[in-house]
Amino acid sequence: MLVAPRNHRHRPCLPSSPTTTHKHSTSLRIRNTIITPDDANGNKTAAASNQPTPSSAGRIKRLVLSPESRIKLNALPDRDFYSFPRFVKHVDDGFLATLTDLYRDRVRPGSEVLDLMSSWVSHLPEEVAYKRVVGHGMNAQELARNPRLDYFFVKDLNREPRLELAAGSFDAVLCTVSVQYLQQPEEVFAEVFRVLRPGGIFIVSFSNRLFYEKAISAWRDGTAYGRVQLVVQYFQCIEGFTEAEIIRKLPGSSGARESKSPFDWIFRFLGLLGGPDPFYAVIAHKNFKPVYE
Ligand SMILES: C[S@@+](CC[C@H](N)C(=O)[O-])C[C@H]1O[C@@H](n2cnc3c(N)ncnc32)[C@H](O)[C@@H]1O
Repeated sequence: MLVAPRNHRHRPCLPSSPTTTHKHSTSLRIRNTIITPDDANGNKTAAASNQPTPSSAGRIKRLVLSPESRIKLNALPDRDFYSFPRFVKHVDDGFLATLTDLYRDRVRPGSEVLDLMSSWVSHLPEEVAYKRVVGHGMNAQELARNPRLDYFFVKDLNREPRLELAAGSFDAVLCTVSVQYLQQPEEVFAEVFRVLRPGGIFIVSFSNRLFYEKAISAWRDGTAYGRVQLVVQYFQCIEGFTEAEIIRKLPGSSGARESKSPFDWIFRFLGLLGGPDPFYAVIAHKNFKPVYE
């Protein structure tokens, strides 16, 4: 992993807090003591000795993707594809305005935020102050230009999905128009779960635009509905995420922002304008309650 300082404000991203541990109430321990017998050797079982069994939260319950559905048309290393910076916006202004409104609504001021698969622009509302925003991506030049990041790091999650970040150190994790490039999404979602604090939020947003050759086959071959369901399943396959919430704003629906330019109809007539980008977000929280086996 390359750790790259951006400027005087940007220092290497180091694990910031120790793993969160849960304390359990006396009443739970008393109840477990009453109902759980000793084992065959007469030793107290974990519950009988007042110790709850270890939490299975964050466990990958099942794999969502088959090996074939993880394949990309362009099998060259991702680091080559992202080796030069792209200072472009990947979706239209209406999509980005909807996303910024969503972040304003769901990411509390003062939060510690991880912007996963980020680039040179931040979609967080400018006027809101956060405690810390950490960026991750594939191109250091892009990330260095992102004005919102306190730290950033470069890492290919398809080669190594583990995040070198402390467990329970973020209130919010964001992933914008990028989830389609993950070849091991189950591992990455488990890692996001690990680095979130209990109650923390993971917001995954996407549209219908993509680097086609770099998207996994399950995404390329999927319908809009299927892609939403795929992300829902990524959440469902991790023990301990809350039920996923889906937000859709489709062109023509009341929520979608449309350009009012008088030239739009001419561009559309000439086939030069595809219409506004549809907006999808799938959102879930890390459960507050630990999950016991
Ligand atoms: C379409 S860009 C989106 C960038 C940014 N989230 C935004 O909203 O502008 C896709 C991003 O996915 C990330 N990405 C693609 N493949 C990746 C990989 N193998 N590992 C980690 N990140 C990857 C890169 O950071 C790239 O900038």
